[in-house]
Amino acid sequence: MESKREKFSSGLTVFLATLSSAVGLGNIWMFPYVTGKNGGAAFIIIYLICVVLVGMPVLISEFIIGRGTRKNVYGAISTITNKKKFKSIGVIAILATYSLLFFYTVVVGWVYSYVFKALVGSFKGVTLEQASNIFNTTSAGAISSIIWQFIAVAVGGAILVLGVKGGIEKLTKTLMPVLVILLVVCAFTSLTLPGSMEGVKFLIKPDFSKVHIGVVLSALGLAFFKLSVGTGTMITYGSYYTDDNNLIATASKVAISDTIVSLLAGLAIFPAVFSFGMEPSSGPGLLFNTVPLIFSKMPGGWILSIIFFLLTSMAATMAMISLLEVLIVFFNEELKIERKKAVIINIIIITIIGSLAALSGNPNGVLGNKLIFGKTFFDLFDLLVSKVFLPVNGFLIILLVGYFANKKFVNDQLTNNGTLNNEKIANALIFIMKYIAPVLIVVVFLKSFI
Ligand code: ALA
Repeated sequence: MESKREKFSSGLTVFLATLSSAVGLGNIWMFPYVTGKNGGAAFIIIYLICVVLVGMPVLISEFIIGRGTRKNVYGAISTITNKKKFKSIGVIAILATYSLLFFYTVVVGWVYSYVFKALVGSFKGVTLEQASNIFNTTSAGAISSIIWQFIAVAVGGAILVLGVKGGIEKLTKTLMPVLVILLVVCAFTSLTLPGSMEGVKFLIKPDFSKVHIGVVLSALGLAFFKLSVGTGTMITYGSYYTDDNNLIATASKVAISDTIVSLLAGLAIFPAVFSFGMEPSSGPGLLFNTVPLIFSKMPGGWILSIIFFLLTSMAATMAMISLLEVLIVFFNEELKIERKKAVIINIIIITIIGSLAALSGNPNGVLGNKLIFGKTFFDLFDLLVSKVFLPVNGFLIILLVGYFANKKFVNDQLTNNGTLNNEKIANALIFIMKYIAPVLIVVVFLKSFI
């Protein structure tokens, strides 16, 4: 039962919806902790290079494939090529989306539970020790982790049943600016804490001596994760784009805005981390341990902590639904399963397999010490996504658009059939797609694994 395809209603909606897929836990939760683990400023510089030279070209390639075919990820790829190796893009994209959602929904669940905790005043006057106890109880509790994860997936599913316009558009229109304002407020407070300048130094003074190829692969994986590429999300959203949208301009605006949000999150978190004497490399708990403490130091912190976690949960939800949408449209168009049923099936799959991640997100969790290839389930899904599926699929996507897709088709999408008068930019981009981005991905990928 294929439902009639919808389109985003205007250029602004295209931008906001795409941004709402990019901005999520990747900026507020993952960017700070991965930056902390990989040494700070030097990592950020490498990350920015990855965004410009690889992330954005792959993002635009996904838009081209999506808008040019107006199909789900698998159908879109099959329309563009008959070559078997490229058809695997669709399969890897679906696997990547599932693996990502298995652990992403766990963290969305943690954020939801933090909204609740903020509401009942659990963070009022907390000390560092209390904040880390709260995080440990949240992430190690078996039943609560699974329930919060289920709530997260169910909320995402419910929004998607309402359809593209009803669900996604309404949420995206007002949220982003408020989230940015709140991050600025957090950053200001964090910067006024004693000893906060150490955190600023950590963010702007690069120390390249600690950079090795693993750090570069992490930066590359984060760039893909951040821009929601490699999972087919931007192929799917691209398939809802208006015909007159300038794909290169949209990608640039999305990448710049997304990076600003990540840097703001870094500015909110690291000065506080150093001021409170925390370890910047302490991992996935970084956001949850720091932010309650920052708010406990602010006048009106209670109300602001509620708003912060509420907005973070909304940003996370919108990124999550963009990922879910990949699966739902695939089920609908390829497997001919009606949208509502597809949502329910996927809620079940993600909650059941994702519970492995929910039970291992904290070393003290029920499956926290069950290791597969030396990794917990939570870390394994994360590693598979960021270091295998996304780079491999990003490579295949850019190769497909750069070398194998019909040249006129690519050019028409980039220039809107010549109406944009942007041939020079389009040609420069095609050069990067052909000769720079794929080479960088291969070098980083092979060097890290050999
Ligand atoms: N792009 C989404 C995020 O960064 C997945 O959270």
